[in-house]
Amino acid sequence: MILIILYFLFTKSWSISVFDYCKISNDVYYLTISNILVIDDVQKISHVTKDSICLNNATNGLIFNFRNKKNKLWDLSMNLDHLNEINWHIKKSKIIQVIFKNTIGFALENNSLSIKQKNYILSASFVEPNLAFYQNELYIKTCNDITNLASLLNTVNFYLLELSRVVLKRPICPLIFLNSSIRLLFIWPVYDTFYLRNKLVFLDLDMEINCHIRELYVNKPIKLKINENFLNKKVFKYIEKITLLGYIDEIKEDLLSGFKNLKSLIFDAENFRFLAHRTSLRWLNAFNTEVNIDPNDFGQIRQNFEQLISIIFSFTNFTFINNTFPEVDFCLYLNFPFERMIFILFNNFPLTRDDNPQITCTAIWLIHKPAFYSIQYDLRKIFQNTTLYNSYLNCEFEKKMALCWQNKNWQNLSGFSRSHIEYICFFLIQVFSFGLIPIVSCISMTLNWIIFYVISKLVRKNNFKIKKLF
Ligand SMILES: *[C@@H]1O[C@H](CO)[C@@H](O)[C@H](O)[C@H]1NC(C)=O
Ligand SMILES: *[C@@H]1O[C@H](CO)[C@@H](O)[C@H](O)[C@H]1NC(C)=O
Ligand SMILES: *[C@@H]1O[C@H](CO)[C@@H](O)[C@H](O)[C@H]1NC(C)=O
Ligand SMILES: *[C@@H]1O[C@H](CO)[C@@H](O)[C@H](O)[C@H]1NC(C)=O
Ligand SMILES: *[C@@H]1O[C@H](CO)[C@@H](O)[C@H](O)[C@H]1NC(C)=O
Ligand SMILES: *[C@@H]1O[C@H](CO)[C@@H](O)[C@H](O)[C@H]1NC(C)=O
Ligand SMILES: *[C@@H]1O[C@H](CO)[C@@H](O)[C@H](O)[C@H]1NC(C)=O
Repeated sequence: MILIILYFLFTKSWSISVFDYCKISNDVYYLTISNILVIDDVQKISHVTKDSICLNNATNGLIFNFRNKKNKLWDLSMNLDHLNEINWHIKKSKIIQVIFKNTIGFALENNSLSIKQKNYILSASFVEPNLAFYQNELYIKTCNDITNLASLLNTVNFYLLELSRVVLKRPICPLIFLNSSIRLLFIWPVYDTFYLRNKLVFLDLDMEINCHIRELYVNKPIKLKINENFLNKKVFKYIEKITLLGYIDEIKEDLLSGFKNLKSLIFDAENFRFLAHRTSLRWLNAFNTEVNIDPNDFGQIRQNFEQLISIIFSFTNFTFINNTFPEVDFCLYLNFPFERMIFILFNNFPLTRDDNPQITCTAIWLIHKPAFYSIQYDLRKIFQNTTLYNSYLNCEFEKKMALCWQNKNWQNLSGFSRSHIEYICFFLIQVFSFGLIPIVSCISMTLNWIIFYVISKLVRKNNFKIKKLF
C-alpha cells in the first residue's frame, strides 16, 4: 500500500518537476512549475535574454539555480549585470534569488577592480558548499595567505546568505568577510559532535574587517558549543539578533559581552530548559553590564528602553510554557538580571491579555515586569487589578524566594526533547552509513575465509575419497 502511494507520489512529482521544462539552450532550462531557471554553467547566463520565449510565463518567484557542472571555483566572472537585468525584467525587484549547487570552493581575486560598487542584492542559498577559499589558485590556510581581496562574498549585498550542510576542512579566516554586508546569515543543520563537525569555525584576527551581519539564524544545531571560534567577535561585530533553534550545548560565559548591537536572542522553548540547567544561565552574567536600573520603576525602564535586550521564546504546538518553565525551576531564575534591562518575552503569548491560559509561577516571575510595564504604558491601564497581577500575588514570591538555596547544582536534568531524538537518529544513521561498510566487509571476509576453509577441506576430503576410489 505504502509502496503504491510512494510510487504515485514519485511518478507524479517526477512528471511535474522534470518533464515540464522549457529548453533555452544546451545548459539552460526553465522549469515551468517550480519557476526555476536551471543554469549548468555560470557563463551560460548570457544565453538567457529578456525576451526568451520560455520566460513568458515566469513569475515573481523566479529562482536562478546554478549547478556548476564544470566543477569550477566560484569567482566573479559571473555577469551580475545581466543577471540583474533579467531578474528586474521579470520580478521588478532588486533582490536576485539564487541557489548555488556543487560549490567546490571560492576564488578570491586580488583584483578588486572587477566589481567596483555593491549594486547587487543576492538572496543566495549554497547547498552543501565546500567553504574552501583560494587566491591565485593557492588554497588559503591562514590569514597571511590573503592579500587584497574581492570575492562574491564582499562585492554583492546579501539579503540572505543561506549555508546548508557546509563542508569545512579548515577554520575560516575572518578576512574573507572583509567589507561584506549580510542581512541574514542562515546556517543549518550545524553538527558539533566529536565524530562530525560542520559548524563555522573562524581563525583569530586582530584587524577590524568591517563586516555587517545583522542577523544570525541557526536552525537544527546538534550539540552546538557557542564560543568565540563560532561567534567570532570581528565577523559578528554588528550582529543585532541571534536565533538558535535546536540543541545548544553551551554558550561560553562572558562571550556575549563583546556584541554591542545585539538586542535579541531567540530560543526554542523545547530545548531551552536543558540549556538553562546545563549552564545555570551564567552566559547572561556578562551581558549588558553597563546598564543598572531599578526594574520596579517603570520610569527608569522607559528612559533606558534603548538598552533593552529581549530574550524571546518560540513556542510551537508541541511546546508549552508550563513545561519550559515548570514550578520546580523557580530558583534557577530567581536572580534573573531584570536590572540590566534583560527581559523575557514569549511569542504567541500576548502579555497583556486577560484571557491568557494559566501559567506557572516561574513563567509569571519571568514575564511580570515587561507585562506590567506594557499594561501601564501601552494600554494605559492600572496593572494592579489585572488577572496577571492577581496570579502574581497568588504565587507569593516572597515565600518562594526564601526557599531557594544558593549554589544549587542544576545539572541533573534528564529527559528528552525532540532534538535529542533527532540527534540519536542522526547518530545511528551515521553509524550505519560509515560503520556498516567496514562491519559488512569484515563479516563477508570472515565468511569468505570460512567458505574457503570448508571448501578446501571438502576438496581435500573429496580428493582423499577420489584417491581411495582409485
Ligand atoms: C504560458 O502559459 C500559457 C497558458 O497557460 C500556455 O499556453 C503557454 O504555452 C505558456 N508558454 C510557455 C512558454 O510555457
Ligand atoms: C595577484 O597577485 C599576484 C602576486 O601577488 C600577481 O602576480 C598577480 O598579477 C595579481 N593579479 C591581479 C589580477 O592583480
Ligand atoms: C573595504 O572598505 C574600505 C573602506 O571602505 C576600502 O578602503 C577597501 O578598499 C575595501 N576593501 C575591499 C577589498 O573591498
Ligand atoms: C498549530 O495549531 C494551530 C491551531 O490549532 C493550527 O492552525 C496549526 O496548523 C498548527 N501548526 C502545526 C505546525 O501543527
Ligand atoms: C500550567 O500551570 C498552571 C499553574 O501551575 C496551571 O494552573 C495550568 O493548568 C497549567 N496549564 C497546563 C496546560 O498544563
Ligand atoms: C478592581 O476590580 C474590582 C472588581 O472588578 C473593582 O471593583 C475595583 O474598582 C477595581 N480597582 C481598581 C483600582 O481598578
Ligand atoms: C535533581 O536534584 C534535586 C536535589 O539534588 C532533586 O530534588 C531532583 O529531583 C533532581 N532532579 C532530577 C531530574 O533528577
